[in-house]
Amino acid sequence: MIGSSENGEYDDISFKADLTLDRLQPRLAEVWQQQGIDAAKLRTFDARLRTHWHPLFQLLYRLYGTRYDFFYHIEQVLLTAAKAFANRPDELSALDRHRTNEPDWFQSEKIVGGALYVDLFAENLSKAGQHVQYFKRLGLTYLHLMPLFAVRPGNNDGGYAISNYRSVDPRLGTIDDLRQLANDLRHAGISLVLDFVFNHTADDHEWAQRAQAGDRAYQEFYYIFPDRRLPEQYERTLREIFPTVRRGNFTWHDGMESWVWTTFNSFQWDLNYSNPAVFRAMLEEMYFLANMGVDILRVDAVAFIWKRMGTSCENLPEAHWLIQAYNHLARIATPGLLFKSEAIVHPDEVVKYISEEECQISYNPTLMALLWESLATRRTDLLVQTLGHRYKLPENTSWVNYLRCHDDIGWTFDDQDAAEIGIRAFDHRQFLNDFYTGQFPGSFARGIPFQENHQTGDMRISGTMASLAGLEQAVEEDDEQKKDLAIRRMMLLHGITLSIGGIPLLYLGEEWGMLNDYDFALDPAKAGDSRWIHRPKMQWEYLDELDDHIASGNGSIRSRIFKSTQRLIELRKSLPAFAGQSMGLVSTSNPHILGYLRTHDGHRMVVLANFSEQPQQIGGNKLRTAGLGRFFKDVIQEKTYLTSEPVLLEPYQILWLDRV
Ligand code: GLC
Ligand code: GLC
Repeated sequence: MIGSSENGEYDDISFKADLTLDRLQPRLAEVWQQQGIDAAKLRTFDARLRTHWHPLFQLLYRLYGTRYDFFYHIEQVLLTAAKAFANRPDELSALDRHRTNEPDWFQSEKIVGGALYVDLFAENLSKAGQHVQYFKRLGLTYLHLMPLFAVRPGNNDGGYAISNYRSVDPRLGTIDDLRQLANDLRHAGISLVLDFVFNHTADDHEWAQRAQAGDRAYQEFYYIFPDRRLPEQYERTLREIFPTVRRGNFTWHDGMESWVWTTFNSFQWDLNYSNPAVFRAMLEEMYFLANMGVDILRVDAVAFIWKRMGTSCENLPEAHWLIQAYNHLARIATPGLLFKSEAIVHPDEVVKYISEEECQISYNPTLMALLWESLATRRTDLLVQTLGHRYKLPENTSWVNYLRCHDDIGWTFDDQDAAEIGIRAFDHRQFLNDFYTGQFPGSFARGIPFQENHQTGDMRISGTMASLAGLEQAVEEDDEQKKDLAIRRMMLLHGITLSIGGIPLLYLGEEWGMLNDYDFALDPAKAGDSRWIHRPKMQWEYLDELDDHIASGNGSIRSRIFKSTQRLIELRKSLPAFAGQSMGLVSTSNPHILGYLRTHDGHRMVVLANFSEQPQQIGGNKLRTAGLGRFFKDVIQEKTYLTSEPVLLEPYQILWLDRV
């Protein structure tokens, strides 16, 4: 346990921590003098250091304590933190104070997120900045801009192959444009989320270039092997993330005549965090982003950042220590900054990244996958079985609930959860893949395979929300009834992520029911990666269409989707019961209906969601125990119900029930 003194080790390390800090005081004093820091600010820094120095020291000691140069590195780490603190713009320091006093600020019912690609949405950063009104109109208060930094030429994995963390891709603008946008968003009450792509750099990042030029210090930034001996030993226990791109996890480099560890694409070189110089180098990048005005860092590919022979090299304890160390450093210098975990792994592992000391918020891949699972099966058993023991999170942390994102859907539920209700996981995943690629008889979905691995039978799914929910098929067949069902499915899913507890996150395009974009296959840099099918370009003419229909009163499908989504968002923001994270399942005795109770600060709401295209009902008395009283009303349709009568749900209907 960090910070406990149960063992002698603590006292020894504690002593070393104090000694190091004492020794560093004159160096710190230099920083304060150079930067002209006043006494009040110094007290703030000291107070934070008092809280975080010991646990930070202990983590770094565990990671790097056996190195001869450990004390040098830790001193540099602290000086870096001091400089970042000194350089923090006043406006951000004010935000730090505010958020430290209100550590659950992101759990408000008023928070709603959106994610987008700057180029696909608005061409570039300055044009994106002109759309703040659009974000507000939709009700967004949190905006994730997909990676927008300088990237390697050619394929760059949608921005995730970064060649410089401090300059923006010139096609999108400049670092000043980004700073400007961060300011504009902040003033509009919208938090900015950017990626912290710290597992790997592009092969043309300066560090990688120096490594290629033979610089030993930079070769140690990566995992580089002269022959296949070690790679082959590692390979025995590794899985493959992009098996259709390249088999194995290592890439031969001609110039260096060596093998490089590349978990993702061959041009994304994994960083070697067993080298403290790498930890420090990325710390500088983290502070740079924080001080530019980023509110939340999406900690990319977090599961992969530590490797150990004989393991899967995913989710190792050291990966957690590294994030915790970065977290303490953020608390010291830039405490307004939050971490969002992107661990798309087994649900047991996902939660381990979530705590106030590590990542305060996290994608909820299990809920995402299971909502699609329930749509396919029309049953909620696996969802209920899973939510029942996996939804709860520690205090002051939150799920980020999403339906689609720029990545694929993987069926990351737990096999044992499935077994307990008689589902064979392997077969079920095959069924889901068949269903979502439209192969299963009667399927409404139009997804396509991603990274099909014939050896393991593994496969993930690409496709937009609307195409997966049946809209593409319905439009093609020009079938009004199917269109209606598809839209109902989409609203059902939004209705859940907007109410179940946590930060709801829209992937922009969803608000218009954007369909798959098959043209990606024409671009050689994209053709090999089917995820591009669900990364369509924003069509601004839709907005005119929307305004036209407001005037004339008859809505197209797109306007209907936009307005329904917008309305649900607005409604969520008016319901304090939807704040926070506490969620209790309500037994509905109907396998097609999911039911849960949300309570917060004395407010309560019950949500009922019908996953079938048939009308369903539950006994009103099922809701008596949920404490709604004798009468209650659905705030979506504004209809009143009685506990003494059965509650009838239309196909795919979702009810947000409040007391009358
Ligand atoms: C993350 C991103 C994904 C990318 C990968 C490698 O998982 O979401 O798009 O391919 O990291 O950076
Ligand atoms: C795997 C990784 C995740 C990445 C995804 C890309 O699921 O765990 O980090 O985003 O692959 O497909």
